[in-house]
Amino acid sequence: MIHRQKLKALSAREEQRFIAEHARSAEMYERAKDSLLGGVPMNWMKKWAGAFPIFVAHAKGAHFTDVDGREYVDLCLGDTGAMTGHSPDVVAETIAKRVREGITLMLPTEDSLWVGEELKRRFGLPCWQFALTATDANRFAIRIAREITQRPKVLVYNYCYHGTVDESFATVRDGAVVPRRGNIGPPVNPAETTRVVEFNDLNAFEDALKHGDVAVVLAEPAMTNVGIILPDDGYWKAARELTRKYDALLIADETHTICAGPGGCTREWRLDPDIVVFGKPIGSGIPGSTYGVTEEVAQRIAARIHLEDCDVGGIGGTLAGNALSLVAMRVTLEKVLTAGAYEKMIPLAKRFNDGVAEGIKEHSLPWNVIQLGARAEYHFTEKPPRNGGESAAAADFELERFLHLYALNRGVLLTPFHNMALMCPATSEADVDLHTKIFKQAAAELVA
Ligand SMILES: Cc1ncc(COP(=O)(O)O)c(C=O)c1O
Repeated sequence: MIHRQKLKALSAREEQRFIAEHARSAEMYERAKDSLLGGVPMNWMKKWAGAFPIFVAHAKGAHFTDVDGREYVDLCLGDTGAMTGHSPDVVAETIAKRVREGITLMLPTEDSLWVGEELKRRFGLPCWQFALTATDANRFAIRIAREITQRPKVLVYNYCYHGTVDESFATVRDGAVVPRRGNIGPPVNPAETTRVVEFNDLNAFEDALKHGDVAVVLAEPAMTNVGIILPDDGYWKAARELTRKYDALLIADETHTICAGPGGCTREWRLDPDIVVFGKPIGSGIPGSTYGVTEEVAQRIAARIHLEDCDVGGIGGTLAGNALSLVAMRVTLEKVLTAGAYEKMIPLAKRFNDGVAEGIKEHSLPWNVIQLGARAEYHFTEKPPRNGGESAAAADFELERFLHLYALNRGVLLTPFHNMALMCPATSEADVDLHTKIFKQAAAELVA
């Protein structure tokens, strides 16, 4: 059992160490307060463990250095945006060339064909479009689904995250759909736009679809943003039959689950979605995302969207499909996130998983750890949670913050806001073992 007083004392000690060792970051944070809202370029950067965020000097492969000259093993990897490793040489060289040859034109380049063909090969869906963020790809996919089904609602899982998609910031409380805690200025009450069910509950899923108003189910094949939650055996087969029975479409948001393999869970688990979304690492961190649709969806879109109106439909963006993001996607898919890279990354995630599992056992902690392809994550529950509600209920902000700060002070960056580690092609066994050592040390201090 974790004693709260001890946790507080350990956290205070780590906080002091953090402040003492990050003088330049502290200075920059003070300076930032003069010009940046809340002293950070992005609101949630405030939430990193530690009194202020560390400012980065440079990053390469699986490592980065902060402005105080401290080096880190990066197991966060830009929350998957840098799953390729930071600035792979081949990407840096290719995009530097493109930067000199035209960045954005509102016209296609040949790279878009290569990328479309490769995505078709990887995921099995025939028709692809591009956007700049996974959020936008999800938003556009939802619009298409609403348009072709002429239905208003989106079905999501409790405590899902799909980017800043308005419809998805909803939870279920006592059976009712309510705005999720922290939902900033919801445009409408999400109960009007959204149905929410727990993952792995087929009865609830069917009940929600029975209303006949769900255009589309927006789902990660395995939940990854409230900890990793795997689907029960047979869940997706049954869920897919239900979406067909009730004429709802299915979006597989593979933005994080691309860690499962080169074609995400869609390929690994032979899912059969109507739409696939993939963003973040697709361009090694150069903004870009994609959504692909089945032949049937493509035909239904063609039947409803006409040439004269195709520029005003709430889908797109001036910079979407630009030459730079497409060449970044091409080189990433061709040279970095290859089948060979996964063969290296997945065993490393297993090594991480096994190291943490050992630490949990050695110190008899009531925690568990789960792996999904190239990522792994520990939860503060004895058994892996089966749905978002269960996982969210087991969150422990204080404990999580302590473990993150403890790791950070010793040179390891974990994904913030949960306990996730992701491997990139440049991650080494030594990087993983450093985390294992630190994790065991933290566990020993907690239970001592
Ligand atoms: C599953 C999933 N989809 C979409 C997004 C949104 O990505 P972005 O913030 O790049 O738009 C995220 C972000 O974490 C995500 O986890």
